[in-house]
Amino acid sequence: MGGVGLVLEALACPVCGGPLAMSDAAGPALVCPAGHAFNLARSGYASLVVGGARPHSADSSAMLAARESFLSSGHYQPIAAAVAGAVAAGLAALVEPAPGAARGTGRATGGLVLDLAGGTGYYLAAALEACADARGLVLDLSAAAARRAARRHPRAAAATADAWGRLPLADASVSHAISVFGPRGASELARVLAPGAGLTVVTPTDRHLAQLRAGSWLVGIGGGKTAKLDRALVGFGLTGRRVLEYDVSLAQTQAVDLVMMGPNAFHLERAAVEARLAARDWPLALTVSVLVSRYRRGPERN
Ligand SMILES: C[S@@+](CC[C@H](N)C(=O)[O-])C[C@H]1O[C@@H](n2cnc3c(N)ncnc32)[C@H](O)[C@@H]1O
Ligand SMILES: [Zn+2]
Repeated sequence: MGGVGLVLEALACPVCGGPLAMSDAAGPALVCPAGHAFNLARSGYASLVVGGARPHSADSSAMLAARESFLSSGHYQPIAAAVAGAVAAGLAALVEPAPGAARGTGRATGGLVLDLAGGTGYYLAAALEACADARGLVLDLSAAAARRAARRHPRAAAATADAWGRLPLADASVSHAISVFGPRGASELARVLAPGAGLTVVTPTDRHLAQLRAGSWLVGIGGGKTAKLDRALVGFGLTGRRVLEYDVSLAQTQAVDLVMMGPNAFHLERAAVEARLAARDWPLALTVSVLVSRYRRGPERN
């Protein structure tokens, strides 16, 4: 149970917001003083999704396998490096605040890093490697994601949670948050982040994976709208932004993984994707193009 124990102090009941403690009374669980109880899976993650129907946006086990396989190619490693750099800079800024900004925590690159909708925990692991004193938590709606993320890094824990609902974290308990290609709710992020803490958001630009999308048979991996992104993050100030763009040489199997790890997997069979891609010339020169945006949570309490 080491994983969840790492972040227990920061966790809060997703129903009432009370503190959570470990209990072994009826199998491993997390319980709050009001008696709300949450399962701790044998594989090390906590189930902190509340409510009956789960939104169907949670990635399936097959999508997570495709994502892990694709990420192991290293094609998104520059994104991980950019995220890790942003997290390290954000944690350091918390220690050395700008004049007039929030007071620091006094811990050099320490504190809790949250990876919201963090999938396999790939980006969180890179951030933790860059921040030797930090601990990390992946929250994801998908149990398959939480299972993988729970074993991704010795200083990382994982739990299932809905990014659109109440996050299972105490107020101001997080020192930096990461949001890579995933859903994010601004008001809950503002609540759980400490005043002055950083938020690193990675979104695709219009050029992202353009060669793969040619023919418009794929959905949902296009660019986002930058102004909309900034407007949605109420309570945060933009502190830095850059386009990270580079070409990779993509093998056919990697292309199939790339398609099957995203929203297209909800309506396309792997065999159909393989057949469709077989007609192309391989390897494919593919553009990776993302926007890395850095925000800081304002010093005021909501
Ligand atoms: C495109 S993937 C990105 C995963 C990870 N950040 C990465 O880039 O490898 C989107 C992730 O969001 C998760 N997700 C979808 N809806 C969610 C929700 N409402 N709350 C939390 N996670 C959600 C999915 O299960 C999936 O792991
Ligand atoms: Zn409770």
